[in-house]
Amino acid sequence: MNAIEVRGLKKSFGTKEVLQEVDLTVERGEIFGFLGRNGAGKSTFIQIMSGITHSTGGTVVLLGKPTDRLDAIKQRIGVMPDTSNLYHDMTARAFLEYMAGLSGVRISKQEVLRLLEQVGLSGTERQKIRSFSFGMKKKISIAQALTGNPELLFLDEPTSGLDPESAIDIQRLLFALKANGKTIFLTSHNLNEIEKICDRVAIMAEGRIVRCGTVASLQEAIGQEIQIHIRTVPRLETSHLPEYARLLSQIDECTRLELTSKEDIPNLLVSLAKQDVKVYEVQIERQSLEEIFLAV
Ligand SMILES: Nc1ncnc2c1ncn2[C@@H]1O[C@H](COP(=O)(O)OP(=O)(O)OP(=O)(O)O)[C@@H](O)[C@H]1O
Ligand SMILES: [Mg+2]
Repeated sequence: MNAIEVRGLKKSFGTKEVLQEVDLTVERGEIFGFLGRNGAGKSTFIQIMSGITHSTGGTVVLLGKPTDRLDAIKQRIGVMPDTSNLYHDMTARAFLEYMAGLSGVRISKQEVLRLLEQVGLSGTERQKIRSFSFGMKKKISIAQALTGNPELLFLDEPTSGLDPESAIDIQRLLFALKANGKTIFLTSHNLNEIEKICDRVAIMAEGRIVRCGTVASLQEAIGQEIQIHIRTVPRLETSHLPEYARLLSQIDECTRLELTSKEDIPNLLVSLAKQDVKVYEVQIERQSLEEIFLAV
């Protein structure tokens, strides 16, 4: 069973169509990254998934249940929205208990302390949220999403604004949750982070998903470059290798070659070996997610 199945999802604010026709499937146990420029509709999408706002068309099935019956699965879903309505006068502990209560879950003091520890907020249970720093508020928002041990998590920019160490701690937490079988749907503008932690990604532009798949499959689709380092280059006899003559003639001690097909890699290496050219290092330089993103 898929964790998220979205078909033809639409959302308009007045005449503005933010989501035009979004189709998306997220499998159980995946960490799925949702990307798009500011205003692309990522937060709107998460708000629809979690019932904070309504779509203007299409269907959403979460954990096998249509979301028009969200009450039936509310307890199995955790959400960290982009702008959270943190209750500033509450202590961290009271806030987590209250938020758990809203989704019909009672949590023990031990559970509260465990959640605070998980997000790096140990010892803050009696502190008022008003006295939290930006990053601490972010962390308690994540803790809030985890109350009740949900199977499916929607996290809107969970690590933005966190210091690097805290961000890494949260990434580790996400990996641990995945290892426990949870499904995590997140947005982030940190493409290195997305590349590191997500099984699959989708890129939104103009209300639609324009790319979707593993980072490797997106790289594959966009092409690649091969970089070859060579220490000794005997005089190359290129006449019997007409297809590589141009490339081989460019080979120097350390050469960067652009190939058009993946098959050119072994072919070229065989050609070089036949001519006793020693290849000490071959690096396939792939497009980064950033480059793929910017090309959209
Ligand atoms: N309540 C609202 N009323 C009118 N327009 C809205 C409302 N909420 C969002 N929008 C518009 O919908 C579009 C998508 O906003 P959304 O917050 O989903 O973008 P996002 O992809 O999350 O961007 P960011 O990366 O900045 O967080 C924006 O153009 C925004 O102005
Ligand atoms: Mg947003």
